[in-house]
Amino acid sequence: MKDYNTLDDFNLENKTVLLRVDFNMPLDKDTLEILDTTRIERVLPTIKELVNKNAKTVIIAHQGRQGSWDFISMEKHAKALQNLLGKEVKFIDDIFSEKAQNAIKNLQTGEILMLDNVRKYDGETEKKPAEEHSQSDLVQNLYPLADLFVNDAFAAAHRPQCSLIGFTAVLPSAAGRLMEKEITTLGEIIQNPEKPSVFLFGGAKFSDVIVTIERLLDNKTADKIILTGLPANAFLKAEGIQLGEKNEELLAEEGKPENYEEIKKLLEKYKDNIYLPTDFAQQSNTERSEIDISELPTQYNLFDIGEKTIQNFKDIMSDAKTVFLSGPCGVFEKPAFMKGTREIFTYVANSGVFSIVGGGHTVAAVEKLGLGKKISHISTGGGSLEKFMMGEKLPVIEALKAAKNRFS
Ligand code: 3PG
Repeated sequence: MKDYNTLDDFNLENKTVLLRVDFNMPLDKDTLEILDTTRIERVLPTIKELVNKNAKTVIIAHQGRQGSWDFISMEKHAKALQNLLGKEVKFIDDIFSEKAQNAIKNLQTGEILMLDNVRKYDGETEKKPAEEHSQSDLVQNLYPLADLFVNDAFAAAHRPQCSLIGFTAVLPSAAGRLMEKEITTLGEIIQNPEKPSVFLFGGAKFSDVIVTIERLLDNKTADKIILTGLPANAFLKAEGIQLGEKNEELLAEEGKPENYEEIKKLLEKYKDNIYLPTDFAQQSNTERSEIDISELPTQYNLFDIGEKTIQNFKDIMSDAKTVFLSGPCGVFEKPAFMKGTREIFTYVANSGVFSIVGGGHTVAAVEKLGLGKKISHISTGGGSLEKFMMGEKLPVIEALKAAKNRFS
């Protein structure tokens, strides 16, 4: 017996279902096209079940953050979903005003409607309890039109945000099939991970990673931490390494000055467990050129780890029994800077360790490299997966549990 409801617990016939998914996709920075549709594909079982059981499905989701380059409307996502489903997905460039409300009211049995980027609503990303979020304009305008709230956004389960938890205070609520699968599979893994375990963090976000690393080491869930990408650059900066103007600018976009103090403390505590790159590939006039850490700062962008680091990281992982990959090792979308990600990910996939992969860009990299079948568990989560692995309670899962008690 699960401590949250699932689709098995409700009659969906002719019901209007508000379905919160995580379609926060990796986009091409130049064209803004969706680079990988894995997160959409993984929600298809839930959507198909809702359609087959004659529900009216209203999808809400976010893409990017206000002010970021990948903060775009959900129109492309609706089209991508339509192509994958082979069934019409209506799109409305509105979240909860009259236009959206009328579209919901006019929805017929079996139809699917996608609303616009929910983060266009300013109150969406505020951190509040479910009861407070339920008083928001978003929830107050939409919940009277729905019979059931279904949350399948495991990748955003660590965010106590309005559309993710607010509806659970006012509507009967259930986990979607993807949410249910992630909770069940990952729950089994964290209870009994095989040791030694190595956690690799990369990609283009680092502020959330600092506390994650500390908890993983404190809990002894992770034995070794390998850093690449922006997290590595942030740790090097905290150690006093000058990276060069362009690289410092990228860091300033993501993190806050206090992050470097936090990193310094973490390094003092766990210096021997945290491994950083010692050489890099930079985007110079000749496309890719390698640079040693002793040659920094550089006027160019550091876009990948270098040859020496690749070998060193493989050696560090050679006795691992569990490897967790979160974030590519470089800007893998650019062919010249795919090497670090390709070599490290291929090494892990072929090594026979229990491998867990999470995060939109990480999953995209795994699929691009054709390694999907060799990875033990591909999670749709990034930050949420890290927190789940740390044993933290995730607000979205807690809200679903509370809703089960509230509406039982
Ligand atoms: C993710 O992709 O990790 C989730 O969609 C959450 O996105 P956020 O970090 O912008 O809140």
